[in-house]
Amino acid sequence: MNELIEKDLKYVWHPCSQMKDYETLPPVIIKRGKGIYLYDIFGKKYMDVISSWWCNLLGHCNENISNAIKEQLDNLEHIIFANFSHEPAIKLCEELLKILPKGLVKFNFSDNGSASVECALKMSLQYQYQTGNTKKIKFMCLSEGYHGETIGALSVGGLDLYSKIYKPMLMNGIIRIDAPDCYRCPYGKSRDCCNAECFCKAEQAFEDFADETCAIIVEPLLQGSAGMRIYPPVYLKKLREICDQSNVILIADEIATGFGRTGQMFACDHAKISPDIMCLSKGLTGGYMPMSITVTSQKIFDAFYDDYSKGKAFMHSHTYSGNPLGCSAALAVQKILREQNILENARKTAMYLHERLNEVFENYPNVGEIRHIGLINAIELVKDKKTKKPFDPKLRIGYQIYKKALNLGLILRPLGDVIYFNPPLNITKSEVNEAVELCRKSVDSVL
Ligand SMILES: Cc1ncc(COP(=O)(O)O)c(C=O)c1O
Repeated sequence: MNELIEKDLKYVWHPCSQMKDYETLPPVIIKRGKGIYLYDIFGKKYMDVISSWWCNLLGHCNENISNAIKEQLDNLEHIIFANFSHEPAIKLCEELLKILPKGLVKFNFSDNGSASVECALKMSLQYQYQTGNTKKIKFMCLSEGYHGETIGALSVGGLDLYSKIYKPMLMNGIIRIDAPDCYRCPYGKSRDCCNAECFCKAEQAFEDFADETCAIIVEPLLQGSAGMRIYPPVYLKKLREICDQSNVILIADEIATGFGRTGQMFACDHAKISPDIMCLSKGLTGGYMPMSITVTSQKIFDAFYDDYSKGKAFMHSHTYSGNPLGCSAALAVQKILREQNILENARKTAMYLHERLNEVFENYPNVGEIRHIGLINAIELVKDKKTKKPFDPKLRIGYQIYKKALNLGLILRPLGDVIYFNPPLNITKSEVNEAVELCRKSVDSVL
């Protein structure tokens, strides 16, 4: 075995992994990346169609982003962000203001997605407290939701796989609403033309608990970790209305969906709504630096603004808040999105990718649904197409396909038995062809 692999296995505890699996599938040690391709130490190349956990927005080692970071590095690497500031952070706020849904105007920086969610939850509770709503201390969220791995974020998540064992540590008072399940819609509707009949579950929860609820957090339109479950904008519209009626803060977790992933700049744009708080990370820096921002409305900010002695300040910080390298990367990303017609081209490639996947997989016996939003395309594999019965999880069908695809040079990393594409926005049509063909071969060889 290669020395680096041996040492990796000796020292590293990899994220979200059963390390015993590494006995038969050792880590792939990547030496360099360019565009959609990663190259390992043996020179083998892999197509990164999952954007390295959905963060790589514009390909690896993009010259403009790399240069922006390098230039910043020679001027200022990092400073305390309390009472100090720097031009890249200020400019970034200005740029984001131009593209964010209306009304989101104040920017609180952290260093990863989960931290941004924690920040949003704490802000919501404190906002309600400081505006006289001291009874509003609970949170609502959707079943099957995912908001990160820290305790607050896990508490408002709905995926047992990540949270079950930690239940004794998690927050009380979480009201979980049955999320839309469009593939297995209990109302027999289709997401393209329904009126979000399933929203009655949310209405019931609001009727029962809105008086005690400070905020609801959702992944707008796309429940990524749940298997790229997609639901219609009308659900979000209804949610915005009911939040307004009952003074419940709407937190949109756009960590996975932001910056063009769903075909619009933000998933909220499909529904033409502005949340009260939005969490951003991943694509924010193009996946080059760990950074997140919790963006809020003026109204929320104002509830914290007073004489120091009133004790209303948001006493929340992270050492790396507002890191200048992250801000410079994010500024470079904004420039590319602005100047290179990325979203418009991505929309065209998205249609092409979906057509190609349909051609190959539509009549495939075990393909239950090929759902898509923006460039994100997910193929849900089922044992029985008619009844939509899933495979026995013990078979680990998705994992078998993942291993096969890796062998062929494609990174698919499925969510259970859902295999998906979430490639950089600037993937080309010929790369799409290559990836779809490798995907077909991998699925064929396992099923
Ligand atoms: C919707 C959503 N929220 C939050 C997170 C957590 O972000 P991080 O992994 O940076 O903590 C993720 C990560 O995948 C996510 O998809």
